[in-house]
Amino acid sequence: MNWVLDPHADLIWDSSGFVVTAQGVQNLAPSTDEEWDAVRNAAASIVEAGNLLIMPHHAQGRDAWIGHSRGLQFTGMELLKAAENRDAQALFDLGGQLYINCQSCHDQYLDLAAQERLN
Ligand code: HEC
Repeated sequence: MNWVLDPHADLIWDSSGFVVTAQGVQNLAPSTDEEWDAVRNAAASIVEAGNLLIMPHHAQGRDAWIGHSRGLQFTGMELLKAAENRDAQALFDLGGQLYINCQSCHDQYLDLAAQERLN
């Protein structure tokens, strides 16, 4: 999780929205081909992470777990499209959806102590 999934999700979340600094408002959306490619690569990795989570070793026959993993994959595939279409608004919206994908599985499967470390 920490090594495979988290860095890619962070890249997505750091690539949308705005931050307000003393210098003014900064748009975080990708503005170069390189930045969009990085988003695309992160999205592809999220789809792959979903594949890994669905493997029997991780899923252990739990239907809800598989559902959360497929949700994650679906968002990853939509993120791929958004990156290919250079669609900053979709990237922003899907970033919110991605957060819900992570959170809903954690709500169900992470113990409370681990959740507090994450929040
Ligand atoms: C299918 C279920 C599932 C999904 C989806 C999921 N996680 Fe997790 N995650 C877990 C479980 C279970 C753990 C605790 C066990 C572990 O560390 O492997 C965990 C642990 C973590 C940890 C480490 C927490 C700690 O206490 O050290 C991080 C960071 C994390 N997840 C990030 C994410 C992010 C970011 C996403 C979404 C992009 C995500 N996870 C989606 C199930 C999931």
